[in-house]
Amino acid sequence: MDLHDREERLLELARAAMERAYAPYSGFAVGAAVMTDTGHMYAGCNIENASYGLSNCAERTAVFHMVMAGEHAVTAIAVIAGTLQPVSPCGACRQVLAEFGSAGVPVFMANSRGDIRRVTLGELLPYAFSGEDMDAHEE
Ligand code: THU
Repeated sequence: MDLHDREERLLELARAAMERAYAPYSGFAVGAAVMTDTGHMYAGCNIENASYGLSNCAERTAVFHMVMAGEHAVTAIAVIAGTLQPVSPCGACRQVLAEFGSAGVPVFMANSRGDIRRVTLGELLPYAFSGEDMDAHEE
């Protein structure tokens, strides 16, 4: 599947996931989807809580969905919201995505108007902390 097909399919899934958002506090619905090295896709929406800090972003929901299905290798990511500009993953989600995707993984950021911004995971989170940093640590 070429990059253009992956982008279309992931954004379609992310758009559908956005409809599932549970966001009664912010009113801000977000959808996300990740593709893995097996070609499977996993979607997520944001899930808020009356205790606001417990809210979970769409990107992390998608990653948790993937892990629960037994997969760990992200090869493309899409995120969408009804923003004026394509929506950008928050810092916490960038770190969670970096756990499962390499720096070259494409990230498609979109809005409901059809604007798309294309970057890589490495551009979103340069110098990500990783498990290798701990392997290399000195006592
Ligand atoms: N949110 C996401 O789901 N993803 C992002 O990248 C940015 C923020 C959610 C969290 C919260 O439910 C709402 O958007 C407002 O911050």
